[in-house]
Amino acid sequence: MRIQIINGPNLNLLGKREPEVYGNQSFETFFQTLTQSFAPIELHYFQSNVEGEIVDKLQEVGFSFDGVILNAGAYTHTSVAIHDAIGSIPSPVVEVHISNVFAREEFRHHSLITSKCAGLITGFGLQSYALAMIYLMNRGNS
Ligand code: DQA
Repeated sequence: MRIQIINGPNLNLLGKREPEVYGNQSFETFFQTLTQSFAPIELHYFQSNVEGEIVDKLQEVGFSFDGVILNAGAYTHTSVAIHDAIGSIPSPVVEVHISNVFAREEFRHHSLITSKCAGLITGFGLQSYALAMIYLMNRGNS
């Protein structure tokens, strides 16, 4: 089983960026733990601050991988291109957020991508990614 994690803009700064909102851990460190916890699942990680690169990655993996875990960061709230890319691929995409977007500013309450995703997980810190993994691993069974 192959699963792709895609992180969008500013998520390369996890551990340094607003630690009161996003925590103290870098994604690279968390990714190692996640990979070990879910072995032997093949987990891939990609981060970009560029909208078109996120679209490219969705197109690249979206016809062959078993699932995508996508934290589109601020593009969640603005990107028609990412909405369309998710709608163009057969692999299920789980939208995740580290913070609880509904407990934050109003502009974060609306997502352009949720309607094309299998579901949305928000507010559980980095554990949001682990919860998405559990769904993707078991979705054939329910
Ligand atoms: C985020 C929430 C977004 O509103 C924000 O722009 C981010 C991170 C989260 O993981 O909580 O960059 O996606």
